[in-house]
Amino acid sequence: MKENELILILDFGGQYNQLIARRVRECNVYSEVVPYDISIEKIRERKPKGIIFTGGPASVYGENSPKCPKEIFELGIPILGICYGMQLMVHLLGGNVKKADKREYGTIDVEINNTSLLFETFENKNKFLMSHTDYVEKIPEGFQNIGHTETCPNAAIENQDKKLYGIQFHPEVNNSINGTVVIKNFLYNICKCTGDWTMTSFVDESIKTLKEKIKDKKTLCALSGGVDSSVAAILLNRAIGKNLICIFVDHGLLRKNEADEVERVFKEEYDINLIRVNAKERFLEKLSGVTEPEKKRKIIGEEFIRVFEEESRKIGEVDFLVQGTIYPDVIESGLGKSSVIKSHHNVGGLPEHVNFKQIIEPLRSLFKDEVRKTGLELGMPENLVFRQPFPGPGLAIRIIGEVTDKKLEILKEADSIFREEIANHGLHKSINQYFAILTNLKTVGVMGDERTYDYTIALRAVETTDFMTGIWSKIPYEILEKVSSRIVNEVPNVNRVVYDITSKPPATIEWE
Ligand code: XMP
Repeated sequence: MKENELILILDFGGQYNQLIARRVRECNVYSEVVPYDISIEKIRERKPKGIIFTGGPASVYGENSPKCPKEIFELGIPILGICYGMQLMVHLLGGNVKKADKREYGTIDVEINNTSLLFETFENKNKFLMSHTDYVEKIPEGFQNIGHTETCPNAAIENQDKKLYGIQFHPEVNNSINGTVVIKNFLYNICKCTGDWTMTSFVDESIKTLKEKIKDKKTLCALSGGVDSSVAAILLNRAIGKNLICIFVDHGLLRKNEADEVERVFKEEYDINLIRVNAKERFLEKLSGVTEPEKKRKIIGEEFIRVFEEESRKIGEVDFLVQGTIYPDVIESGLGKSSVIKSHHNVGGLPEHVNFKQIIEPLRSLFKDEVRKTGLELGMPENLVFRQPFPGPGLAIRIIGEVTDKKLEILKEADSIFREEIANHGLHKSINQYFAILTNLKTVGVMGDERTYDYTIALRAVETTDFMTGIWSKIPYEILEKVSSRIVNEVPNVNRVVYDITSKPPATIEWE
């Protein structure tokens, strides 16, 4: 593949590291997050146009605090240190970092020197997010102060000759007004990037590389109907046409009409070699009597692989197997790990008994929003590209307790009504995930003059950017009323609808 301009982001453990990489890419410059102890040789080899040191929770004086080799400052490559990254730069170059009595936190006025290339087009006073206890007390020789707050004397510094820059604030978060412009200035004014990273160039280059690599060999792809595997399949279809075979395991746990829609788009609009396996009965049988959420996930993940393996055996040997891995998966598996709350089985995990020689991961370098842009670039319909996230185990984890065919039908209908009303009221773009849950709760109701004893449907809607935290969406009462009334009137066996008003944390988005 043609080498794009590259920015290396050295990861010192900060919580916003992925965001930094995304912001850089939003400025049309390709970036990669790498461990902070990457070797100098490796950096030279990658020929980055610039380097960014991320923030991190450590103090430069901490016993095991993460540090990079000092030679990095002699490479002649521009460096921007953010928060801990700035403090480390100062510490290694002979300045002084000190612990403040009080933590400085919040979106705070930073007075800057806007003649610096880093702050071109900025006013003198700007609101940026500060979040630190240690601060730079004395800057190293050769550096200038280019910013301060009321309590932090060195909120921004530069060494123009060596192209070294440090900022105590976090330009990558939304709370920092025009923070992305600071990053852009670093990329364009200081690193002299031209911005050659676009989805068009990605698609063109990928198709070329995939063609060269695969030639006329057979490639197999497990299609879940989700955004990632769909985009991967269509990209490969463009590159190798009929040599791509997709297996779509329909576990019967997708939303109403979804499986048919996936089949239609892939077969009719893209003329893709698609094998749909209707495996609902098999999955329901395996799930029969199972109530524990993690057990359900495990069963579905394993059964998916079994079905996929059986189908692929019919095809015989293939050369390549496509995986829809995306960049956050790569970063998360290679770097820090948080505790497991849910096992997040992605249906389509790696099968052991498929006869293939090599894995292909065409989306490995992309963030989710870039995957979506790639989908649009490939002409995919918006309803597929902008699908809200849908868990691999599907509706099975939205039916509390045992999953049965009857419960699936109830949930599909209720969920479809909720989604329809959200779309009718134009809320589908502002609410990031919304769905119905079939609780295991039966309650007494009255319909006509009759007593009923039926299921309770819960509605869930959250606003979030990262799905790791989120707030419940304040859907107007009139809309909730309409949804509730339609569900109890149109869906048999439901006599009550409740709305979930918990944020994440402490609740999770899904109920199981
Ligand atoms: P939670 O429920 O953990 O969900 O707040 C966060 C996001 O992850 C999705 N999710 C899953 N996705 N397999 C998946 O592929 C799973 O097992 C799974 N569980 C939750 C959930 O829909 C939300 O977007």
